[in-house]
Amino acid sequence: MTSRPTTLDSRLQSDLEAFKRDGVYKRLNYLASPQAARTVMEGRGEVIILSSNNYLGLSNAPDVVAAGRKALEDLGAGTASVRFICGTFAIHRELEQELARLVGTESSLSFVSCWNANEAVPGTLLGEEDLVLSDQLNHASIIDGIRLAKAITKCQTGVYKHADLADLDQKLAAAKDRRVKMVISDGVFSMEGAIAPLPGLKEVCRKHNAVLVLDDSHATGVLGTTGRGTAEHFGMLGEVDIITSTLGKALGGAAGGFVAGSAAVTDYLTQRARPQLFSNALPPTVAASSLAAVRQLQAHPELVTRLRENATYFRNGLSALGFKPLPGETPIIPVILGETAHAIRMSEMLLEQGVFVTGFGYPVVPQGQARVRCQVSAAHRREDLDEALSAFAQVGRRLGLI
Ligand SMILES: Cc1ncc(COP(=O)(O)O)c(C=O)c1O
Repeated sequence: MTSRPTTLDSRLQSDLEAFKRDGVYKRLNYLASPQAARTVMEGRGEVIILSSNNYLGLSNAPDVVAAGRKALEDLGAGTASVRFICGTFAIHRELEQELARLVGTESSLSFVSCWNANEAVPGTLLGEEDLVLSDQLNHASIIDGIRLAKAITKCQTGVYKHADLADLDQKLAAAKDRRVKMVISDGVFSMEGAIAPLPGLKEVCRKHNAVLVLDDSHATGVLGTTGRGTAEHFGMLGEVDIITSTLGKALGGAAGGFVAGSAAVTDYLTQRARPQLFSNALPPTVAASSLAAVRQLQAHPELVTRLRENATYFRNGLSALGFKPLPGETPIIPVILGETAHAIRMSEMLLEQGVFVTGFGYPVVPQGQARVRCQVSAAHRREDLDEALSAFAQVGRRLGLI
């Protein structure tokens, strides 16, 4: 039985039609085999994935899958409770200890997503007399976390120009009266692949006695010789006050996130963070598979090396064809195309050639800077990357881009 459309349904339907007319409507692609260098996509057959955060290829690694399966058998499907009531298993503690060791902090606390972790940090830790400043290009979860913090705590909020240390310095100087000053930045900016200027951020924060928070979702398992993140990349392990990150990308790719910092920070979040107090814990399957992914990373630093080599190979390959990928050192390799419809058209044409790359447009990226964003993985072999490059060459010529 279908009910009559409400006035809300009618408005949404007309907006959805407009998205389709404007060429910005997103269609979901259903996969029929695991995330890997290649996967089977419903209606498309086998495609090369160049659009996944499965940076180390661990989401289908035998040890990771086996750990999840064992936890399912040993502990059941889920926690059936929030953590402080009866939703915590020893595997959560083990995972949190290992994550803290990995990113170089005293302690860590897991959440069901990094979105939740980013929501928890400012809204729980700040108060009315405090200030939080955010990089202009920070991830949506940080932006919404700060909006929520403003509504909940009445803290003062502000935005500094992307990676602009002088602007940050000025804004912190103007906030001398604030009790706690917090600065939040992505470690790696997901749409650009750019790395945050951590040494400068740290220096400015130290000068103004501000707390530095880094979201390392695209850096954990990716940056640094052994994949310990932005801090390792800059030789600054142990120098970032608070790190948030995801378990949904390099660390197994299932879901989940964490906040890492001092024991005081994680204990306070355990006591007071609303996404922690009023929502179930990570399923034990996910805690176990994520822990196995961390151990794989620690045992196989060569995965990080291969990831870096693949990123360099693909970036150089695109440049040799005549594309102008944004320069950088990360496996996120965007090619700017301008209009959203162009980016979506290019990604459709690449998919017809068996290469899955997502096009991003406004409002995910600024107006006029739509792009296709390639992401390489340690799982890609040279044949996969070469085949993808030849698809880029064909599509680029057809679109007159090269
Ligand atoms: C920088 C950044 N932070 C946070 C998140 C959210 O992570 P999760 O999927 O664990 O909620 C993402 C995911 O896209 C991200 O790119």
